[in-house]
Amino acid sequence: MNKRAQIDAGLEQSAFWMPFTANRQFKKNPRLLARAEGMYYWTADGRQVLDGQAGLWCVNAGHCRPKIVEALRRQAGVMDFAPTFQMGHPIAFEFAERLAGIAPAGFSHVFFTNSGSESADTALKIALAYHRARGEGQRFRLIGRERGYHGVNFGGMAVGGIVTNRKTFGPGVAGVDHIRHTHDLSRNSFSKGQPVHGAEFADELERLCALHDPSTVAAVIVEPVAGSAGVLVPPKGYLERLREICTRHGILLIFDEVITGFGRLGKPFGSQRFGVMPDLFTTAKGMTNGAVPMGAVFVNESVHAAFMQGAEGIELFHGYTYSGHPLGCAAGIATLDTYEEEGLLTRAATLERHFEDAAHALRGAPYVIDVRNCGLMAAVELEPRPGAPGKRAYEAFLKAFEAGVLIRYTGDTLALSPPLIVEKAQIDRLFDCIREVLQAVK
Ligand SMILES: Cc1ncc(COP(=O)(O)O)c(C=O)c1O
Repeated sequence: MNKRAQIDAGLEQSAFWMPFTANRQFKKNPRLLARAEGMYYWTADGRQVLDGQAGLWCVNAGHCRPKIVEALRRQAGVMDFAPTFQMGHPIAFEFAERLAGIAPAGFSHVFFTNSGSESADTALKIALAYHRARGEGQRFRLIGRERGYHGVNFGGMAVGGIVTNRKTFGPGVAGVDHIRHTHDLSRNSFSKGQPVHGAEFADELERLCALHDPSTVAAVIVEPVAGSAGVLVPPKGYLERLREICTRHGILLIFDEVITGFGRLGKPFGSQRFGVMPDLFTTAKGMTNGAVPMGAVFVNESVHAAFMQGAEGIELFHGYTYSGHPLGCAAGIATLDTYEEEGLLTRAATLERHFEDAAHALRGAPYVIDVRNCGLMAAVELEPRPGAPGKRAYEAFLKAFEAGVLIRYTGDTLALSPPLIVEKAQIDRLFDCIREVLQAVK
């Protein structure tokens, strides 16, 4: 049997060890996506599926956009690869300028990576190296947050607060601590936008500073809105308080904007939505509209300047073979063109009210214990099935897919983040589908 015939015959013996997937379960009953365009996927057997999760929080301009496709074709024929270690190519410099051009004021430089995980580890390393460059090498501690997700590499995993990661792979990096998460169902359930209660959760950072001595802390990393752990929107005043504590103690504040970057919250970046500026922020996903794996860490001028002193030499001993890959840069520039031409970096703001109303109309539907939203991100949290946490949401995900809608689930939460080109009727379809599915799950 040739390879293709083997796949058609079934995937149970397939060589593909799938990530974050129940492999044996999936391969017995695969869900294969074969084609995509705009707001839709088509399955291998030809069914149309509305994409309610922008691929994996990344296809912000919708699928297979012509400019991006064309840029990739063109670049692949011009120069496939060129190194960026002690060499350069114009398109990488051009893309960096374009990115700095849409960043909040003061974010003068970008360091290219290939994923959100690499962006998280890169940002943490820049923070450590920054303090060392300024003669404060005793700042080695990194502080993250419970339920934070910063990818799967050792640094991001260590500062993250995903229990299965910590259980399976251990603490990862020494000198890491965590503040508590901001989810507070008892006071904030069914909040629209930022919850009212919980600014005081930021004071945990002050407590950890007192415990460890603030002069040992290098950086704090949080997602402006925690995505993967179920769309946890920061309470009013919370990010401001984190910023204030970091500034007072000389600690760098890192925002992980891998999901919230590139228009998801109605502004180009989450920091602009909340009016709170970090010192560094990480991106990936929407940076190339998901078309090529690529990420970047944005660095403010004063952090960058600390490296550009003293004798000339390699200022940051860090980089990836594919940092600034020509195909990624080509896709990224075409992505920014598409975002700008179609106003996508701010379009979520114009749809937010409709999206919010549609999401909160699920209040009262079976098993729904919370609905929360910000920009074009929403979560519908379900009451866990006794003795089987996560199963109800998994079944809802399966039934929605059968009904032609792709949504994401994490634990007992259904998460929605459609491409930013979504139309109001498609928003209605997403939430109507969830309502129907919830009638059918047990
Ligand atoms: C906030 C955040 N950081 C980092 C990552 C990791 O990104 P990647 O899967 O591209 O490594 C993710 C992925 O979902 C994320 O949501």
